[in-house]
Amino acid sequence: MGMLSSTRDWIDARFPMTKMFEEHLSKYYAPKNFNFWYFFGSLALLVLVIQIVSGIFLTMNYKPDAAHAFASVEYIMRDVEWGWLIRYIHSTGASAFFLVVYLHMFRAMLYGSYKGPRELIWIFGMLIYLMLMAEAFFGYLLPWGQMSYWGAQVIISLFGAIPVVGDELALWIRGDFVISDATLNRFFALHVIAVPLVLVALVVMHILALHEVGSNNPDGVDIKKNKDENGIPKDAIPFHPYYTVKDIVGVVVFLMFFSIVVFFIPEGGGYFLEKPNFEPADPLKTPNHIAPVWYFTPFYAMLRAVTIDIGPLTAKFLGVVVMGAAVVILFFLPWLDRSPVKSIRYRGPIYKIMLALFVVAFVVLGWLGTQATTDAKTLMAQIGTAVYFAFFLLMPFYTRIDRTLTVPDRVTG
Ligand code: HEM
Repeated sequence: MGMLSSTRDWIDARFPMTKMFEEHLSKYYAPKNFNFWYFFGSLALLVLVIQIVSGIFLTMNYKPDAAHAFASVEYIMRDVEWGWLIRYIHSTGASAFFLVVYLHMFRAMLYGSYKGPRELIWIFGMLIYLMLMAEAFFGYLLPWGQMSYWGAQVIISLFGAIPVVGDELALWIRGDFVISDATLNRFFALHVIAVPLVLVALVVMHILALHEVGSNNPDGVDIKKNKDENGIPKDAIPFHPYYTVKDIVGVVVFLMFFSIVVFFIPEGGGYFLEKPNFEPADPLKTPNHIAPVWYFTPFYAMLRAVTIDIGPLTAKFLGVVVMGAAVVILFFLPWLDRSPVKSIRYRGPIYKIMLALFVVAFVVLGWLGTQATTDAKTLMAQIGTAVYFAFFLLMPFYTRIDRTLTVPDRVTG
């Protein structure tokens, strides 16, 4: 017996290494027809690792102190060996994370992956999404630039709009009467350790839930209904080596695009790193135009779309409710969708039209959220918000009456 296999046996007698490798990789049977859309799960994992590793190196030179934070970021950019690269990897990684996760979620909507028995995979995914938003929000305060400061000011003031408890809540979040060193310190703690720990734990649960029921596929066919004599689904292939190798292709292509941004357009035209954030935070000078980073702008547009007070409820508070509802409603997707089929390939025209309208509304809202408001743009945001909610709220009806095609027994490729 070779050195390697005896070491393996020694470990296996004490730790389930080979067992886990087989269960989750070499004997995890995945549908053979995964397409483009199935790259984004492994890419999300890759970006998570990139963020954690680059984040650790940033922490070595960053100072979570209102008097030094901005200068420490400049120091990283100018003096620390390769510091600029580490910072640009981390800042670009934040945008890449949301892009990848949005595409990953859209895949679930294309193929009905959230439908039974995969509801919990979706719920864990949504919790990941919430944590990701919190992570991005906390991280954004750390460079202590103008947009860091005023962006946090706007978001925390939203909590202040909640009736009765709002002011106390905002005070509790800030840890001070204004955003200050105390706020920066707690955001640092949350960004660097608390939220990442929860994120990693949720990702583990997300994948365990996936491996418990098995992956869906672009046909939405239940591959477990057709098994060979060994009990292996006929339409499946072992994840390793087939999808590990395929995913490497996705990783290489992704890293090409990622590198282009990191090396040539790290500011992303002001969308990845916003211009006012190159000025240090000044509590006495409000920037003319405060806008969140692109991945939050669809929700920001919905917040601003609400312009009327209802009784004692202010427009601002109602906007917060609408914005919160826009995220929360996603959790209910598995139960709102009553279609007998999963994949869009076998759905009728109504779902296809609604999904297309939803995507257009989300993108237009995203653009509106970057713009200063005008009457026309507010009206557009109101229409966009209505379309966004109609997609979900009308879903129990239109998915039931929509025409569907017969789903084949086996995957079609
Ligand atoms: C850090 C973020 C995330 C990571 C690392 C991650 C990872 C993964 C991986 C590796 C897979 C299997 C490969 C694939 O199907 O693409 C997967 C599947 C899935 N994920 Fe995620 N995910 C993340 C976020 C989310 C979010 C935010 C949602 C939705 C709200 C979500 C919903 C799903 C669903 C429904 C599946 C099953 C897809 C299918 O079988 O067709 N994930 N995820």
